[in-house]
Amino acid sequence: MLKKGLLIAAVVAFIVTGSIGGLQAGTDVADTLMMKNDYPHKKSIVTFTHKKHSEEYGTKCGDCHHDADNKPLNDLKMGDDVQKCIECHKKPGEVPKELKKEWKDKKVKKKEKDRLSREFHAEALHDNCRDCHKKHNKKTKTKDAPTTCAKCHPKKE
Ligand code: HEC
Ligand code: HEC
Ligand code: HEC
Ligand code: HEC
Repeated sequence: MLKKGLLIAAVVAFIVTGSIGGLQAGTDVADTLMMKNDYPHKKSIVTFTHKKHSEEYGTKCGDCHHDADNKPLNDLKMGDDVQKCIECHKKPGEVPKELKKEWKDKKVKKKEKDRLSREFHAEALHDNCRDCHKKHNKKTKTKDAPTTCAKCHPKKE
């Protein structure tokens, strides 16, 4: 059964992309993602409605996806090669407390601190998700977009 399924998938891929190798070219994305990048998690896993964000909430690809120069990728299309955030924001989790203290002691400037923070994956995600949510709520005078920990990381049973 499995083999047959794979064969059908390969044939479909062949028809769609014109080659088997084409399967590797584009990146697919589920409508709803479980944000569970490959590092140990202290908090519960965030559910991210990718499709709703890009189709219902009026956010553009480039509001979240950018290139190595932080230039927004507004012309991105499904099926393009898309890098995961963690390929650039490489360090796992949030900034460790000790490092924050070190930056404070060294009087690292805010702008530089923000940049260094975003080398950490969770900080880059928080900056992206939360900043837009805050702006949205302010503009609409609502609390439609979640900004508190438990709204994104639901309490574990
Ligand atoms: C708008 C949604 C959102 C809010 C609000 C939010 N987070 Fe996150 N958080 C995320 C996403 C997305 C990730 C990335 C997880 C991944 O991809 O693995 C993340 C990752 C993390 C991580 C690293 C992974 C882990 O579980 O150890 C920690 C720690 C964390 N968040 C803590 C918090 C805390 C504390 C708050 C409140 C002050 C908070 N978050 C608020 C979305 C959110
Ligand atoms: C609101 C933010 C946001 C918007 C808008 C958005 N994306 Fe994403 N997209 C993400 C996040 C977050 C991920 C998960 C990446 C990760 O885990 O590192 C992702 C993942 C993807 C992936 C899968 C990447 C992989 O390697 O797994 C593709 C493909 C993708 N997005 C394409 C698009 C396209 C095309 C658009 C515009 C039509 C778009 N995205 C709009 C945030 C967004
Ligand atoms: C190809 C490498 C690359 C990828 C992939 C990437 N980033 Fe970035 N990102 C950067 C660079 C470089 C900067 C600029 C340095 C900085 O300010 O942190 C940046 C900046 C940011 C900023 C600050 C934006 C600003 O102008 O204030 C946020 C937030 C962010 N990235 C989140 C994300 C998220 C979320 C994803 C995945 C959807 C992602 N990044 C994918 C390289 C990347
Ligand atoms: C550019 C703006 C923008 C960015 C970036 C963004 N969001 Fe949102 N998000 C919204 C808006 C707007 C809403 C509220 C829509 C409404 O209910 O009217 C929302 C709602 C949500 C909700 C509640 C409704 C639902 O669909 O589940 C969650 C959870 C959420 N966002 C998670 C995230 C996470 C996680 C990220 C980062 C990976 C993120 N968002 C990035 C604009 C954004």
